[in-house]
Amino acid sequence: MPLTFSLAATAPASLETPLLAVVLPSEPTLTDELTALDGLLHGALMRTLARRDFRGGRDESLLLVGGEQGVQRVLLVGRGTAPLSRIGARRAAAVAARQAGKLGTGALHLWLPGGDAASVEGLVIGAAAGSWGYPDLQTPPPERDRRARVEQVTIIAPDSEAARAAFAAGVAVAEGQAIAKRLGQMPGNYCTPETFVEVGRDIATRHGMGITVLGRKEMADLGMGAFLCVAQGTPQEPRLVALEYRGAGADQRPVVLIGKGLCFDTGGISIKPAPEMEWMKFDMSGAGGVMGAMEAIGRLKPAINVVGIIGSTTNMPSGEAVKPGDVVRASNGKTIEIINTDAEGRLVLADLLVFAKRYNPSIALDAATLTGAIVIGLGQHAVGVFSTDRTAADEVLAAGEAAGEPGWPMPMWDEYREQIKSDVADVKNTGGRAAGSITAALFLQEFVDGFPFVHLDVAGTAYSQSDLGWIPKGPTGTPVGTFVEFVRARART
Ligand code: BES
Ligand code: MN
Ligand code: ZN
Repeated sequence: MPLTFSLAATAPASLETPLLAVVLPSEPTLTDELTALDGLLHGALMRTLARRDFRGGRDESLLLVGGEQGVQRVLLVGRGTAPLSRIGARRAAAVAARQAGKLGTGALHLWLPGGDAASVEGLVIGAAAGSWGYPDLQTPPPERDRRARVEQVTIIAPDSEAARAAFAAGVAVAEGQAIAKRLGQMPGNYCTPETFVEVGRDIATRHGMGITVLGRKEMADLGMGAFLCVAQGTPQEPRLVALEYRGAGADQRPVVLIGKGLCFDTGGISIKPAPEMEWMKFDMSGAGGVMGAMEAIGRLKPAINVVGIIGSTTNMPSGEAVKPGDVVRASNGKTIEIINTDAEGRLVLADLLVFAKRYNPSIALDAATLTGAIVIGLGQHAVGVFSTDRTAADEVLAAGEAAGEPGWPMPMWDEYREQIKSDVADVKNTGGRAAGSITAALFLQEFVDGFPFVHLDVAGTAYSQSDLGWIPKGPTGTPVGTFVEFVRARART
């Protein structure tokens, strides 16, 4: 059953709900609004706060038993000491939705007393994040052990134009993130390059976007030797999918979003070690992020043109696979010496960046699970943001912060370029262990011609190998929020 959202201005005390989650700040006090609710609880809320059983700390929650009818349960959820924000609301809502899932209430009402319109957006996104799952491949438990999944989320907020707009924006982002997460969690034998074609066609049809799909033959005709050498070891048809959203005049240069879509990355002939290789199903997260962003943009309908381009294949060793030492030619004519077949994402992106030029971009952003080095450098809490254009990087950093997907700027100085010079070709595909994320970004820059470009290395942030408390381990939805905020901000100016 899909998740449905609604917005209601009902007074909390007069709700009919199996679960009302109330988001409270650190050291909450009993306001008049809360006193009205406490009437249903026979003063339990007042006593709970007086005893300091619940202190409103971030991620803290406490369940109070409500009535037979009306508000049947009240879940207090803390949002900590930070000032009210969309990101804080998101996190608290996710905690609430996870608790609702454990209780099996099916429906959830969410209330943030004193919240503004921006917090409504955060509540929707958070509730979706906290109730997200991928149950498709698991046998459901027997009926008596079953807990209902959260299927109905209602945000309680005073009615206003701003609240309704924020609610719609929240649903748009949440639906986009759901697409990205689902693609990410799908095993490599379920999410294939063809899946990106199907999802792309579905998004294009529902939102009236243009779509271009290329296969091996069409890419060969365009001279995409970099992308195609990665696909050499797999019988699967590699796919380039471009979604074209038109929100402004044809003369307006689009924002181009580009995603790395490796449905699985074994490393190829430079094969990866076996332990934890299964995580490489997430190597399509950049492409999943582009698909998710295009879904959100299709719903939001900003007055701007946006093109989303993904390149999808699977990096496999085989008798026909590309080998270290081989030289390939990208579609801009540049030759590349393959040093390590595991540095495949940049090869796919190289031809996508050349392809992007045909759209005459005002700017291109790419997201890719590109390097293990960015995981070492920034861990799972910051996206690596690379650009030779300071203003463009700042714009992306601001979008990431607004989305709760913070990035951190990385240098792209010329000095590092020495590391990717080749004896036999124009460039090498790896620059050694030192500054591995930076040399990867510099490699990409070789294929950019005539537009500002910002590269997002999301290898540490697109999925989490541990439970983050507010969301479970697995796909995080990054970089959907960053892409969407970037596009929304551009559409506003
Ligand atoms: N997909 C990987 C990067 C990666 C590593 C993503 C860990 C998520 C977690 C990428 O294709 C890769 O293998 N990069 C190599 C590059 C190296 C061979 C220069 C890496 O980072 O080790
Ligand atoms: Mn690789
Ligand atoms: Zn990879």
